[in-house]
Amino acid sequence: QNLDAIIKTDVLIIGAGLAGLSTALALPESLSVTLLSKAELEVCSSHYAQGGIAASLDKNDSVADHIADTLIAGAGLCAADNTASILSAGQQAVQWLCEQGVPFTQIAQEINKKSFTELQTADLHLTKEGGHGCRRVAHADDATGRYVMEALILKAKAASNISIRPYHEALNLLTDNSDNRCQGAQVFDHSSQRQLTFYSRAVVLASGGLGQLFQRASAPNVCVGDGVIMAWQAGCRLANLEFIQFHPTGLALDDSSFLISEALRGEGGRLYCPQSGKRFMLDVDVRAELAPRDIVARAIAEQINNNGLGYVHLDVSHLPAVFLQQHFPQIYQTLFNLGIDMTREPIPVAPTAHYSCGGVVTDANGVTDVAGLYAAGEVAYTGLHGANRLASNSLLECVVVGRNIAASLPRYLTAMEKPATTSYDINIEQPAIDIWTPPILKETQPVILSTATLPLFSTYKHNELKNELENELNTDNELLEITAQLKVLMTNNMGISRSAEQLEQALKQIQQWQQQLVNAKANQSNISSVHSSKSSNQLANFQLARQLQLATLIVQSAYQRLESRGGHYRKDYPNLAVSPKTSIIEPLANEQED
Ligand code: SIN
Repeated sequence: QNLDAIIKTDVLIIGAGLAGLSTALALPESLSVTLLSKAELEVCSSHYAQGGIAASLDKNDSVADHIADTLIAGAGLCAADNTASILSAGQQAVQWLCEQGVPFTQIAQEINKKSFTELQTADLHLTKEGGHGCRRVAHADDATGRYVMEALILKAKAASNISIRPYHEALNLLTDNSDNRCQGAQVFDHSSQRQLTFYSRAVVLASGGLGQLFQRASAPNVCVGDGVIMAWQAGCRLANLEFIQFHPTGLALDDSSFLISEALRGEGGRLYCPQSGKRFMLDVDVRAELAPRDIVARAIAEQINNNGLGYVHLDVSHLPAVFLQQHFPQIYQTLFNLGIDMTREPIPVAPTAHYSCGGVVTDANGVTDVAGLYAAGEVAYTGLHGANRLASNSLLECVVVGRNIAASLPRYLTAMEKPATTSYDINIEQPAIDIWTPPILKETQPVILSTATLPLFSTYKHNELKNELENELNTDNELLEITAQLKVLMTNNMGISRSAEQLEQALKQIQQWQQQLVNAKANQSNISSVHSSKSSNQLANFQLARQLQLATLIVQSAYQRLESRGGHYRKDYPNLAVSPKTSIIEPLANEQED
Protein backbone atom coordinates (compact mmCIF):
# COMPACT_ATOMS: atom_id res chain seq x y z
CA GLN A 1 0.00 0.00 0.00
CA ASN A 2 1.53 3.32 -1.03
CA LEU A 3 0.43 6.15 1.20
CA ASP A 4 3.14 8.60 0.09
CA ALA A 5 1.95 12.16 -0.35
CA ILE A 6 2.58 13.26 -3.94
CA ILE A 7 3.83 16.75 -4.73
CA LYS A 8 4.32 18.16 -8.21
CA THR A 9 6.79 20.84 -9.21
CA ASP A 10 8.52 21.88 -12.45
CA VAL A 11 12.05 21.69 -11.08
CA LEU A 12 13.11 19.80 -7.97
CA ILE A 13 16.44 20.96 -6.53
CA ILE A 14 18.01 18.61 -3.99
CA GLY A 15 20.25 20.73 -1.79
CA ALA A 16 20.02 24.38 -0.78
CA GLY A 17 23.67 25.40 -0.73
CA LEU A 18 25.24 27.84 -3.16
CA ALA A 19 24.77 25.59 -6.24
CA GLY A 20 21.11 24.90 -5.46
CA LEU A 21 20.29 28.53 -4.64
CA SER A 22 22.12 29.92 -7.68
CA THR A 23 20.17 27.54 -9.92
CA ALA A 24 16.85 28.32 -8.25
CA LEU A 25 17.31 32.10 -8.44
CA ALA A 26 18.49 32.08 -12.05
CA LEU A 27 15.68 29.86 -13.39
CA PRO A 28 12.81 31.67 -15.14
CA GLU A 29 10.13 32.77 -12.68
CA SER A 30 7.55 30.99 -14.83
CA LEU A 31 8.84 27.64 -13.51
CA SER A 32 7.80 26.35 -10.11
CA VAL A 33 10.89 25.35 -8.16
CA THR A 34 11.09 23.23 -5.01
CA LEU A 35 14.31 23.47 -3.05
CA LEU A 36 15.02 20.70 -0.53
CA SER A 37 17.42 21.07 2.36
CA LYS A 38 18.34 18.01 4.42
CA ALA A 39 18.39 20.06 7.64
CA GLU A 40 18.15 23.80 8.40
CA LEU A 41 19.13 25.97 5.42
CA GLU A 42 22.42 27.03 6.91
CA VAL A 43 23.53 23.43 7.47
CA CYS A 44 25.56 23.14 4.29
CA SER A 45 29.23 23.51 3.36
CA SER A 46 28.67 26.73 1.39
CA HIS A 47 27.60 28.46 4.60
CA TYR A 48 30.90 27.61 6.28
CA ALA A 49 33.18 28.64 3.38
CA GLN A 50 35.57 31.26 4.68
CA GLY A 51 38.14 32.26 2.05
CA GLY A 52 35.99 33.27 -0.88
CA ILE A 53 35.38 33.07 -4.60
CA ALA A 54 38.25 32.90 -7.05
CA ALA A 55 37.93 34.88 -10.30
CA SER A 56 40.35 36.93 -12.33
CA LEU A 57 39.15 40.40 -11.36
CA ASP A 58 42.41 42.28 -10.87
CA LYS A 59 43.67 44.37 -13.79
CA ASN A 60 46.99 42.55 -13.67
CA ASP A 61 45.34 39.13 -13.69
CA SER A 62 43.86 37.21 -16.62
CA VAL A 63 41.55 34.26 -17.17
CA ALA A 64 44.50 32.52 -18.84
CA ASP A 65 46.56 32.88 -15.64
CA HIS A 66 43.66 31.59 -13.52
CA ILE A 67 43.32 28.59 -15.84
CA ALA A 68 47.08 27.96 -15.73
CA ASP A 69 47.14 27.95 -11.90
CA THR A 70 44.09 25.65 -11.80
CA LEU A 71 45.70 23.19 -14.23
CA ILE A 72 48.93 23.12 -12.21
CA ALA A 73 47.07 22.36 -8.95
CA GLY A 74 44.92 19.79 -10.80
CA ALA A 75 48.09 17.80 -11.63
CA GLY A 76 47.15 16.75 -15.15
CA LEU A 77 43.58 15.71 -14.43
CA CYS A 78 41.57 18.89 -15.09
CA ALA A 79 39.13 18.58 -17.98
CA ALA A 80 40.55 21.40 -20.08
CA ASP A 81 37.34 22.51 -21.87
CA ASN A 82 35.15 22.59 -18.78
CA THR A 83 37.89 24.32 -16.79
CA ALA A 84 38.23 27.07 -19.39
CA SER A 85 34.49 27.43 -19.73
CA ILE A 86 33.84 27.71 -15.97
CA LEU A 87 36.75 30.03 -15.16
CA SER A 88 35.97 32.32 -18.10
CA ALA A 89 32.57 33.01 -16.52
CA GLY A 90 34.17 34.10 -13.23
CA GLN A 91 33.74 37.85 -13.54
CA GLN A 92 30.04 37.58 -14.55
CA ALA A 93 29.37 35.16 -11.70
CA VAL A 94 30.86 37.48 -9.07
CA GLN A 95 29.02 40.45 -10.63
CA TRP A 96 25.76 38.45 -10.38
CA LEU A 97 26.44 37.84 -6.69
CA CYS A 98 27.02 41.59 -6.21
CA GLU A 99 23.61 42.18 -7.81
CA GLN A 100 22.03 39.71 -5.38
CA GLY A 101 23.26 41.95 -2.55
CA VAL A 102 26.29 40.02 -1.26
CA PRO A 103 28.26 42.42 0.99
CA PHE A 104 31.72 41.72 -0.41
CA THR A 105 34.71 43.38 1.26
CA GLN A 106 35.66 46.47 -0.74
CA ILE A 107 39.01 48.07 -1.59
CA ALA A 108 37.72 51.49 -0.61
CA GLN A 109 38.27 52.72 2.90
CA GLU A 110 35.25 53.06 5.20
CA ILE A 111 34.34 56.57 4.06
CA ASN A 112 34.22 55.83 0.31
CA LYS A 113 32.41 52.51 0.47
CA LYS A 114 29.56 51.86 -1.97
CA SER A 115 26.21 50.44 -1.00
CA PHE A 116 26.22 46.71 -1.69
CA THR A 117 23.71 46.86 -4.51
CA GLU A 118 25.94 49.29 -6.47
CA LEU A 119 29.04 47.13 -6.16
CA GLN A 120 31.03 46.28 -9.29
CA THR A 121 33.70 43.58 -9.35
CA ALA A 122 36.38 46.28 -9.75
CA ASP A 123 35.46 47.57 -6.28
CA LEU A 124 36.23 44.31 -4.50
CA HIS A 125 39.15 43.64 -2.22
CA LEU A 126 40.95 40.46 -3.30
CA THR A 127 42.81 38.09 -1.05
CA LYS A 128 45.41 35.46 -1.87
CA GLU A 129 45.39 31.71 -1.30
CA GLY A 130 47.70 28.76 -1.94
CA GLY A 131 48.41 27.89 -5.57
CA HIS A 132 47.14 31.25 -6.92
CA GLY A 133 49.79 33.32 -8.70
CA CYS A 134 48.21 36.61 -7.59
CA ARG A 135 45.42 38.12 -5.48
CA ARG A 136 42.29 36.62 -6.96
CA VAL A 137 39.84 35.76 -4.21
CA ALA A 138 36.77 37.98 -3.68
CA HIS A 139 35.54 37.66 -0.09
CA ALA A 140 33.25 39.03 2.57
CA ASP A 141 35.53 39.34 5.59
CA ASP A 142 36.49 35.78 6.54
CA ALA A 143 32.92 34.45 6.43
CA THR A 144 32.23 34.67 2.70
CA GLY A 145 29.94 31.64 2.58
CA ARG A 146 27.73 32.91 5.38
CA TYR A 147 27.29 36.35 3.78
CA VAL A 148 26.67 34.88 0.31
CA MET A 149 24.12 32.39 1.64
CA GLU A 150 22.30 35.01 3.73
CA ALA A 151 21.89 37.25 0.66
CA LEU A 152 20.69 34.42 -1.60
CA ILE A 153 18.35 32.89 0.99
CA LEU A 154 16.65 36.29 1.40
CA LYS A 155 16.12 36.44 -2.38
CA ALA A 156 14.86 32.86 -2.57
CA LYS A 157 12.41 33.39 0.28
CA ALA A 158 11.06 36.45 -1.52
CA ALA A 159 10.63 34.65 -4.86
CA SER A 160 7.03 33.55 -5.42
CA ASN A 161 8.02 30.59 -7.64
CA ILE A 162 10.46 29.03 -5.12
CA SER A 163 9.24 26.78 -2.33
CA ILE A 164 11.90 25.99 0.28
CA ARG A 165 11.56 22.80 2.32
CA PRO A 166 14.02 22.30 5.18
CA TYR A 167 14.46 18.86 6.80
CA HIS A 168 13.67 17.00 3.58
CA GLU A 169 16.11 14.18 2.87
CA ALA A 170 16.15 12.71 -0.64
CA LEU A 171 16.21 8.91 -0.61
CA ASN A 172 16.03 7.92 -4.22
CA LEU A 173 15.74 9.46 -7.68
CA LEU A 174 12.78 8.48 -9.83
CA THR A 175 13.62 7.56 -13.40
CA ASP A 176 11.17 6.67 -16.11
CA ASN A 177 11.65 3.05 -17.16
CA SER A 178 10.83 3.65 -20.82
CA ASP A 179 13.31 6.42 -21.65
CA ASN A 180 15.40 6.71 -18.49
CA ARG A 181 14.42 10.29 -17.76
CA CYS A 182 14.66 11.61 -14.24
CA GLN A 183 11.24 12.69 -13.04
CA GLY A 184 11.50 13.36 -9.36
CA ALA A 185 12.58 11.82 -6.09
CA GLN A 186 11.37 9.95 -3.04
CA VAL A 187 12.01 12.09 -0.03
CA PHE A 188 11.77 11.68 3.74
CA ASP A 189 10.32 14.70 5.53
CA HIS A 190 11.94 14.70 8.96
CA SER A 191 9.55 17.34 10.34
CA SER A 192 6.39 15.35 9.67
CA GLN A 193 8.19 11.97 9.67
CA ARG A 194 6.56 11.06 6.36
CA GLN A 195 7.84 9.81 3.08
CA LEU A 196 6.88 12.05 0.15
CA THR A 197 7.09 11.60 -3.60
CA PHE A 198 8.02 14.65 -5.65
CA TYR A 199 7.24 14.45 -9.35
CA SER A 200 9.09 17.04 -11.41
CA ARG A 201 9.95 17.76 -15.03
CA ALA A 202 13.65 17.98 -14.16
CA VAL A 203 15.83 17.39 -11.09
CA VAL A 204 18.96 19.27 -10.03
CA LEU A 205 21.28 17.49 -7.61
CA ALA A 206 23.09 20.04 -5.48
CA SER A 207 23.43 17.90 -2.40
CA GLY A 208 27.05 18.70 -1.51
CA GLY A 209 30.00 16.55 -0.58
CA LEU A 210 30.96 13.56 1.53
CA GLY A 211 33.44 14.89 4.11
CA GLN A 212 31.50 13.37 7.00
CA LEU A 213 32.61 9.90 5.98
CA PHE A 214 35.84 10.99 7.74
CA GLN A 215 36.60 11.68 11.40
CA ARG A 216 37.64 15.31 11.10
CA ALA A 217 35.78 17.25 8.40
CA SER A 218 35.06 20.87 7.59
CA ALA A 219 31.61 19.96 6.24
CA PRO A 220 28.51 19.77 8.45
CA ASN A 221 27.22 16.36 9.49
CA VAL A 222 24.63 16.07 6.69
CA CYS A 223 27.43 15.78 4.09
CA VAL A 224 27.75 12.02 3.59
CA GLY A 225 27.58 11.86 -0.21
CA ASP A 226 23.93 10.78 -0.64
CA GLY A 227 23.68 12.52 -4.00
CA VAL A 228 26.63 10.63 -5.44
CA ILE A 229 25.05 7.26 -4.67
CA MET A 230 21.56 8.30 -5.81
CA ALA A 231 22.90 9.50 -9.17
CA TRP A 232 24.94 6.32 -9.62
CA GLN A 233 21.89 4.18 -8.90
CA ALA A 234 19.90 6.25 -11.40
CA GLY A 235 22.39 5.58 -14.21
CA CYS A 236 25.11 8.23 -13.96
CA ARG A 237 28.83 7.66 -14.21
CA LEU A 238 31.04 8.74 -11.31
CA ALA A 239 34.59 10.03 -11.66
CA ASN A 240 37.75 10.40 -9.56
CA LEU A 241 36.26 9.52 -6.16
CA GLU A 242 39.73 8.82 -4.79
CA PHE A 243 40.60 12.52 -4.88
CA ILE A 244 39.47 13.68 -1.46
CA GLN A 245 41.04 17.01 -0.64
CA PHE A 246 42.27 17.49 2.91
CA HIS A 247 42.48 21.13 3.99
CA PRO A 248 45.82 21.60 5.75
CA THR A 249 44.56 23.74 8.61
CA GLY A 250 41.46 22.60 10.44
CA LEU A 251 41.33 23.76 14.06
CA ALA A 252 42.84 20.86 16.02
CA LEU A 253 40.65 20.95 19.10
CA ASP A 254 38.74 17.70 19.76
CA ASP A 255 36.65 16.96 16.69
CA SER A 256 36.07 20.62 15.81
CA SER A 257 35.03 21.19 12.20
CA PHE A 258 36.11 24.85 12.31
CA LEU A 259 38.48 25.80 9.53
CA ILE A 260 41.42 28.18 9.80
CA SER A 261 41.25 29.79 6.38
CA GLU A 262 44.07 29.46 3.90
CA ALA A 263 43.76 33.24 3.55
CA LEU A 264 45.68 33.50 6.85
CA ARG A 265 48.60 31.80 5.16
CA GLY A 266 47.94 33.99 2.10
CA GLU A 267 48.52 37.04 4.31
CA GLY A 268 51.76 35.65 5.76
CA GLY A 269 50.82 32.93 8.28
CA ARG A 270 53.61 30.42 8.97
CA LEU A 271 53.59 26.79 10.05
CA TYR A 272 55.88 25.61 12.85
CA CYS A 273 56.73 22.37 14.59
CA PRO A 274 55.49 23.01 18.17
CA GLN A 275 58.46 21.27 19.80
CA SER A 276 61.45 22.46 17.76
CA GLY A 277 59.95 25.74 16.54
CA LYS A 278 61.18 24.86 13.04
CA ARG A 279 59.34 26.43 10.07
CA PHE A 280 59.13 23.07 8.30
CA MET A 281 57.48 24.13 5.00
CA LEU A 282 60.71 25.89 3.96
CA ASP A 283 62.30 22.45 3.53
CA VAL A 284 59.32 21.01 1.64
CA ASP A 285 58.50 23.40 -1.21
CA VAL A 286 59.80 26.70 -2.57
CA ARG A 287 56.29 28.11 -2.17
CA ALA A 288 56.49 27.20 1.53
CA GLU A 289 53.08 27.67 3.27
CA LEU A 290 51.46 28.65 -0.04
CA ALA A 291 52.24 25.43 -1.88
CA PRO A 292 49.12 23.61 -3.18
CA ARG A 293 47.15 22.18 -0.30
CA ASP A 294 47.89 18.50 -0.90
CA ILE A 295 51.58 19.27 -0.38
CA VAL A 296 50.99 21.36 2.75
CA ALA A 297 48.48 18.83 4.18
CA ARG A 298 50.91 15.93 3.67
CA ALA A 299 53.77 17.84 5.25
CA ILE A 300 51.63 18.66 8.30
CA ALA A 301 50.43 15.04 8.55
CA GLU A 302 54.04 13.86 8.53
CA GLN A 303 54.95 16.32 11.30
CA ILE A 304 51.97 15.10 13.34
CA ASN A 305 52.97 11.46 12.83
CA ASN A 306 56.40 12.27 14.18
CA ASN A 307 55.47 14.65 16.99
CA GLY A 308 52.59 12.63 18.43
CA LEU A 309 50.78 15.83 19.45
CA GLY A 310 47.93 15.72 16.92
CA TYR A 311 48.68 19.23 15.66
CA VAL A 312 51.27 21.72 14.39
CA HIS A 313 51.27 25.47 14.98
CA LEU A 314 50.02 28.11 12.59
CA ASP A 315 51.41 31.45 13.66
CA VAL A 316 50.19 34.88 12.58
CA SER A 317 51.29 36.81 15.66
CA HIS A 318 53.98 38.66 13.64
CA LEU A 319 51.16 40.37 11.63
CA PRO A 320 49.61 43.60 13.02
CA ALA A 321 46.86 42.77 15.54
CA VAL A 322 44.48 45.38 14.11
CA PHE A 323 44.87 43.94 10.61
CA LEU A 324 44.07 40.41 11.88
CA GLN A 325 41.04 41.56 13.82
CA GLN A 326 39.70 43.56 10.87
CA HIS A 327 40.34 41.00 8.12
CA PHE A 328 39.58 37.82 10.05
CA PRO A 329 36.91 38.83 12.56
CA GLN A 330 35.16 35.44 12.61
CA ILE A 331 38.33 33.41 13.08
CA TYR A 332 39.69 35.86 15.63
CA GLN A 333 36.49 35.83 17.69
CA THR A 334 35.93 32.06 17.47
CA LEU A 335 39.46 31.37 18.65
CA PHE A 336 39.28 34.07 21.32
CA ASN A 337 36.13 32.43 22.71
CA LEU A 338 38.08 29.17 22.87
CA GLY A 339 40.89 30.84 24.80
CA ILE A 340 43.33 31.40 21.91
CA ASP A 341 44.38 34.97 21.10
CA MET A 342 45.81 34.58 17.59
CA THR A 343 47.35 38.06 17.66
CA ARG A 344 49.70 36.80 20.40
CA GLU A 345 49.86 33.00 20.28
CA PRO A 346 49.97 30.19 17.71
CA ILE A 347 46.90 28.23 16.59
CA PRO A 348 46.90 24.39 16.82
CA VAL A 349 45.98 23.03 13.36
CA ALA A 350 45.66 19.63 11.67
CA PRO A 351 44.44 18.51 8.23
CA THR A 352 40.69 18.01 7.84
CA ALA A 353 38.66 16.29 5.09
CA HIS A 354 37.45 19.24 3.06
CA TYR A 355 36.37 18.59 -0.52
CA SER A 356 35.58 15.78 -2.90
CA CYS A 357 37.18 16.59 -6.26
CA GLY A 358 35.33 13.71 -7.93
CA GLY A 359 31.62 13.02 -8.16
CA VAL A 360 28.79 12.69 -10.64
CA VAL A 361 30.08 13.22 -14.20
CA THR A 362 28.66 16.39 -15.78
CA ASP A 363 29.59 18.95 -18.38
CA ALA A 364 29.94 22.67 -17.63
CA ASN A 365 26.14 23.00 -17.95
CA GLY A 366 25.56 20.43 -15.21
CA VAL A 367 24.20 17.87 -17.70
CA THR A 368 24.57 14.29 -16.37
CA ASP A 369 24.21 10.94 -18.16
CA VAL A 370 20.52 10.76 -17.25
CA ALA A 371 18.16 13.05 -19.17
CA GLY A 372 16.40 15.54 -16.92
CA LEU A 373 18.98 15.11 -14.15
CA TYR A 374 21.49 17.90 -13.60
CA ALA A 375 24.20 18.18 -10.96
CA ALA A 376 26.22 21.10 -9.61
CA GLY A 377 28.58 21.88 -6.78
CA GLU A 378 30.56 19.36 -4.75
CA VAL A 379 28.33 16.42 -5.69
CA ALA A 380 29.34 16.89 -9.33
CA TYR A 381 32.50 16.23 -11.29
CA THR A 382 33.06 18.75 -14.07
CA GLY A 383 36.81 18.10 -14.14
CA LEU A 384 37.55 21.66 -12.93
CA HIS A 385 39.32 20.40 -9.81
CA GLY A 386 41.36 17.64 -11.40
CA ALA A 387 43.46 15.79 -8.84
CA ASN A 388 43.51 18.71 -6.43
CA ARG A 389 41.13 21.66 -6.21
CA LEU A 390 42.61 25.14 -6.27
CA ALA A 391 41.36 27.10 -3.26
CA SER A 392 38.13 29.06 -3.75
CA ASN A 393 37.39 27.62 -7.20
CA SER A 394 34.48 25.62 -5.80
CA LEU A 395 32.17 28.48 -4.81
CA LEU A 396 32.77 29.89 -8.27
CA GLU A 397 31.86 26.55 -9.84
CA CYS A 398 28.60 26.44 -7.82
CA VAL A 399 27.51 29.81 -9.19
CA VAL A 400 28.67 29.31 -12.78
CA VAL A 401 27.31 25.79 -13.25
CA GLY A 402 24.12 26.62 -11.30
CA ARG A 403 23.45 29.56 -13.62
CA ASN A 404 24.37 27.47 -16.69
CA ILE A 405 21.83 24.84 -15.63
CA ALA A 406 19.21 27.55 -15.22
CA ALA A 407 19.96 28.78 -18.75
CA SER A 408 19.87 25.36 -20.44
CA LEU A 409 17.22 23.48 -18.45
CA PRO A 410 14.25 25.35 -19.99
CA ARG A 411 15.43 24.17 -23.43
CA TYR A 412 15.33 20.58 -22.16
CA LEU A 413 11.78 21.11 -20.87
CA THR A 414 10.70 22.50 -24.25
CA ALA A 415 12.31 19.56 -26.06
CA MET A 416 10.47 17.13 -23.77
CA GLU A 417 7.15 18.69 -24.67
CA LYS A 418 7.71 17.95 -28.36
CA PRO A 419 6.69 14.57 -29.85
CA ALA A 420 8.68 11.56 -28.71
CA THR A 421 10.95 11.57 -31.78
CA THR A 422 12.79 14.62 -30.41
CA SER A 423 15.92 13.50 -28.68
CA TYR A 424 17.80 15.57 -26.17
CA ASP A 425 21.50 15.61 -26.79
CA ILE A 426 23.73 14.73 -23.89
CA ASN A 427 27.20 15.77 -24.78
CA ILE A 428 29.88 15.12 -22.22
CA GLU A 429 33.47 16.02 -22.91
CA GLN A 430 36.06 13.87 -21.21
CA PRO A 431 39.85 13.74 -21.07
CA ALA A 432 41.59 10.36 -21.43
CA ILE A 433 39.63 7.98 -19.27
CA ASP A 434 40.32 4.80 -17.47
CA ILE A 435 37.01 2.99 -17.36
CA TRP A 436 36.64 0.32 -14.75
CA THR A 437 33.86 -1.32 -12.92
CA PRO A 438 34.02 -2.25 -9.27
CA PRO A 439 34.60 -4.50 -7.46
CA ILE A 440 38.29 -5.23 -7.60
CA LEU A 441 38.52 -7.77 -4.82
CA LYS A 442 36.22 -10.72 -5.15
CA GLU A 443 35.38 -10.83 -1.47
CA THR A 444 34.45 -7.15 -1.31
CA GLN A 445 31.34 -7.03 -3.47
CA PRO A 446 29.33 -4.00 -2.41
CA VAL A 447 25.88 -4.74 -1.10
CA ILE A 448 23.63 -3.29 -3.75
CA LEU A 449 20.56 -1.41 -2.53
CA SER A 450 17.64 -1.47 -4.88
CA THR A 451 14.50 0.62 -4.58
CA ALA A 452 12.80 -2.52 -3.30
CA THR A 453 14.80 -2.19 -0.09
CA LEU A 454 13.58 1.34 0.61
CA PRO A 455 11.86 1.68 3.96
CA LEU A 456 8.11 2.15 3.94
CA PHE A 457 7.91 4.94 6.48
CA SER A 458 4.54 6.11 5.32
CA THR A 459 2.86 3.01 6.70
CA TYR A 460 3.12 4.42 10.22
CA LYS A 461 1.62 7.34 12.04
CA HIS A 462 4.36 9.88 12.27
CA ASN A 463 4.28 10.71 16.00
CA GLU A 464 4.43 7.09 16.88
CA LEU A 465 7.26 6.64 14.39
CA LYS A 466 9.16 9.64 15.74
CA ASN A 467 9.12 8.31 19.31
CA GLU A 468 10.02 4.87 18.16
CA LEU A 469 12.81 6.25 15.99
CA GLU A 470 14.33 8.11 18.95
CA ASN A 471 14.06 5.07 21.21
CA GLU A 472 15.33 2.75 18.58
CA LEU A 473 18.32 4.90 17.71
CA ASN A 474 19.22 5.28 21.35
CA THR A 475 19.02 1.60 22.00
CA ASP A 476 20.40 0.41 18.72
CA ASN A 477 23.97 1.41 19.33
CA GLU A 478 25.19 -1.00 16.71
CA LEU A 479 24.37 1.29 13.78
CA LEU A 480 25.78 4.34 15.54
CA GLU A 481 28.89 2.41 16.45
CA ILE A 482 29.45 1.29 12.85
CA THR A 483 28.90 4.85 11.59
CA ALA A 484 31.56 6.13 14.01
CA GLN A 485 33.92 3.27 13.21
CA LEU A 486 33.53 3.93 9.49
CA LYS A 487 34.87 7.47 10.00
CA VAL A 488 37.88 6.11 11.88
CA LEU A 489 38.50 3.51 9.19
CA MET A 490 38.26 6.05 6.35
CA THR A 491 40.60 8.44 8.18
CA ASN A 492 43.20 5.79 9.01
CA ASN A 493 43.10 3.69 5.85
CA MET A 494 41.84 6.09 3.18
CA GLY A 495 43.28 9.32 4.58
CA ILE A 496 46.02 11.65 3.39
CA SER A 497 48.21 8.68 2.39
CA ARG A 498 47.13 5.12 1.57
CA SER A 499 48.59 1.74 0.60
CA ALA A 500 47.17 -1.42 -0.99
CA GLU A 501 47.32 -3.17 2.37
CA GLN A 502 45.35 -0.43 4.15
CA LEU A 503 42.78 -0.26 1.36
CA GLU A 504 42.27 -4.04 1.31
CA GLN A 505 41.78 -4.01 5.07
CA ALA A 506 39.24 -1.21 4.69
CA LEU A 507 37.30 -3.07 1.99
CA LYS A 508 37.14 -6.22 4.10
CA GLN A 509 35.95 -4.32 7.15
CA ILE A 510 33.30 -2.45 5.15
CA GLN A 511 32.07 -5.70 3.73
CA GLN A 512 31.71 -7.18 7.21
CA TRP A 513 29.61 -4.19 8.26
CA GLN A 514 27.51 -4.55 5.13
CA GLN A 515 26.88 -8.16 6.07
CA GLN A 516 25.90 -7.09 9.59
CA LEU A 517 23.34 -4.70 8.12
CA VAL A 518 21.93 -7.36 5.83
CA ASN A 519 21.59 -9.72 8.81
CA ALA A 520 19.99 -7.01 10.94
CA LYS A 521 17.47 -6.34 8.19
CA ALA A 522 16.68 -10.03 7.82
CA ASN A 523 16.13 -10.31 11.58
CA GLN A 524 13.78 -7.34 11.54
CA SER A 525 11.60 -8.78 8.84
CA ASN A 526 11.61 -12.21 10.54
CA ILE A 527 10.44 -10.76 13.81
CA SER A 528 7.81 -8.40 12.46
CA SER A 529 7.32 -6.88 9.08
CA VAL A 530 5.08 -4.04 10.23
CA HIS A 531 6.07 -3.11 13.75
CA SER A 532 6.98 0.54 13.70
CA SER A 533 10.13 0.32 15.79
CA LYS A 534 11.57 -2.15 13.34
CA SER A 535 10.59 0.02 10.42
CA SER A 536 11.97 3.24 11.91
CA ASN A 537 15.24 1.54 12.37
CA GLN A 538 15.22 0.95 8.63
CA LEU A 539 15.94 4.65 8.00
CA ALA A 540 19.16 4.50 9.98
CA ASN A 541 19.93 1.17 8.34
CA PHE A 542 19.28 2.63 4.88
CA GLN A 543 21.46 5.70 5.56
CA LEU A 544 24.33 3.60 6.84
CA ALA A 545 24.06 1.13 3.94
CA ARG A 546 24.33 4.05 1.53
CA GLN A 547 27.43 5.36 3.31
CA LEU A 548 29.05 1.93 3.25
CA GLN A 549 28.33 1.60 -0.44
CA LEU A 550 29.91 4.97 -1.19
CA ALA A 551 32.89 4.22 1.06
CA THR A 552 33.40 1.01 -0.93
CA LEU A 553 33.49 2.90 -4.22
CA ILE A 554 35.91 5.50 -2.83
CA VAL A 555 38.26 2.88 -1.43
CA GLN A 556 38.10 0.83 -4.63
CA SER A 557 38.89 3.96 -6.67
CA ALA A 558 41.95 4.61 -4.50
CA TYR A 559 42.96 0.95 -4.74
CA GLN A 560 42.98 0.88 -8.52
CA ARG A 561 44.99 4.11 -8.95
CA LEU A 562 48.56 2.86 -8.86
CA GLU A 563 50.29 6.22 -8.64
CA SER A 564 50.47 9.34 -6.49
CA ARG A 565 48.91 12.45 -7.97
CA GLY A 566 47.44 15.59 -6.39
CA GLY A 567 45.27 14.65 -3.43
CA HIS A 568 45.77 10.90 -3.94
CA TYR A 569 48.99 9.71 -2.30
CA ARG A 570 49.90 6.02 -2.38
CA LYS A 571 52.79 5.09 -0.08
CA ASP A 572 53.39 2.01 -2.24
CA TYR A 573 53.24 4.00 -5.52
CA PRO A 574 54.83 7.37 -4.65
CA ASN A 575 55.40 8.47 -8.27
CA LEU A 576 53.23 9.90 -11.03
CA ALA A 577 52.07 7.50 -13.72
CA VAL A 578 53.31 8.43 -17.17
CA SER A 579 49.95 9.50 -18.53
CA PRO A 580 47.23 11.10 -16.44
CA LYS A 581 43.91 9.26 -16.48
CA THR A 582 40.54 10.09 -15.06
CA SER A 583 38.93 7.09 -13.35
CA ILE A 584 35.33 6.53 -14.27
CA ILE A 585 32.92 4.22 -12.46
CA GLU A 586 30.22 2.91 -14.75
CA PRO A 587 26.64 3.37 -13.54
CA LEU A 588 25.08 0.74 -11.31
CA ALA A 589 22.41 0.02 -13.92
CA ASN A 590 25.06 -1.04 -16.51
CA GLU A 591 26.91 -3.06 -13.95
CA GLN A 592 23.86 -5.09 -13.03
CA GLU A 593 23.22 -5.95 -16.67
CA ASP A 594 26.71 -7.51 -17.03
C1 SIN B 1 39.73 28.46 3.03
O1 SIN B 1 39.25 29.53 3.36
O2 SIN B 1 40.87 28.12 3.35
C2 SIN B 1 38.92 27.50 2.24
C3 SIN B 1 38.85 27.94 0.86
C4 SIN B 1 38.57 26.78 -0.03
O3 SIN B 1 38.65 25.65 0.40
O4 SIN B 1 38.27 27.01 -1.20
